Amino acid sequence: MERQIVLSGIRATGKLHLGNYVGALKNFVELSRDEAKECFYFIANLHTLTTHTNPFELRASVKDIVRDFLACGLDPKVATIYAQSSVPEITELSWILSCIAPLNLLTIMPHFKEKRDKLNESGITENAGLLTYPILMAADILCVKSELVPVGDDQAPHVEFARELAKKFNDMFGELFPMPKFFGGAGLRLPGLDNRGKMSKSEASSVIYLDDSHDAVWKKLKVAITDPQRVKRRDPGNPDVCNIFTFHHALETPVDDIARITRECKSGEIGCIECKEILAKVVNDILRPINERREQIIGLGAGYIDEVMHDGGLRARKVIQQTVAEAKELVGVPCY
Ligand code: TYM
Repeated sequence: MERQIVLSGIRATGKLHLGNYVGALKNFVELSRDEAKECFYFIANLHTLTTHTNPFELRASVKDIVRDFLACGLDPKVATIYAQSSVPEITELSWILSCIAPLNLLTIMPHFKEKRDKLNESGITENAGLLTYPILMAADILCVKSELVPVGDDQAPHVEFARELAKKFNDMFGELFPMPKFFGGAGLRLPGLDNRGKMSKSEASSVIYLDDSHDAVWKKLKVAITDPQRVKRRDPGNPDVCNIFTFHHALETPVDDIARITRECKSGEIGCIECKEILAKVVNDILRPINERREQIIGLGAGYIDEVMHDGGLRARKVIQQTVAEAKELVGVPCY
């Protein structure tokens, strides 16, 4: 059976959070359980270099994320799990793609503008890697001939860019790459608890981390922003503008519960604290099994994660070497 190729990656920029779970990891696991799919999931540690330059933190973060992959339910025998840096052919393909990538498209990428502004605000000049970031990402996607890319919707422009490069390459040099498709769904941009933009690793106070304890979750939820117009317990609320309802939907609180709390919020029968208690239970039901599995994985010893990454790196490299050799052949720059 020809299996559909799935690929996605996560940068090694710190602890994973519920946004990463909803936008990416949950789908990683579901897709990997489908026998008709072959999944490649990697740590984008080369992309991390565009914003993070502490080698010790970077090394540790890669391993933490692999541990979280497994804790979320990925089986390394089924999905190929690797670090981007284990497969040098990806950067080789990235160079080839950079020679057909339109520069003007790179400069208008939302990711580039956002990161550049952030760096500039702290007096740092943006590096060239930030600009060419989407080319390396296209190489990640195309090097395994991926057809499906499960990511949160902030990454949609990057997947679109990879499609454009795939099409351009195929038109110029011959059919090699399938058209990769964005795989996502509703609620794939989880907001921060302060409702100021998406939940992100760099905004610690508005983030629920995957390794947060029950108490830590409640401490953060208790003070999270709700409907700003609702001041007193008996005031009628508006679920349409309440950040907590965004979480209920994204984290799939049972529909009957959502229907009831929507009704009771509007009539002022349920207070924000009770509504948050229901959400806390949903969050903890997601985090508990992840945290239990993480403990078991830690019990297997540090060497276990090294083994998973080594084995995944070899498996990924075999596939990627083949694609990159084909690309080089088509372009006219073979290995002599
Ligand atoms: P990164 O590390 O920023 O995020 C990893 C994944 O988590 C998703 N995500 C979210 N989804 C919903 N709500 C949020 N608040 C939220 N925050 C993060 C992201 O959409 C992503 O799916 N460029 C990628 C890494 C990458 C990659 C690739 C991904 C490199 N090469 C090839 C796919 C294919 C990134 O920065 O992800």
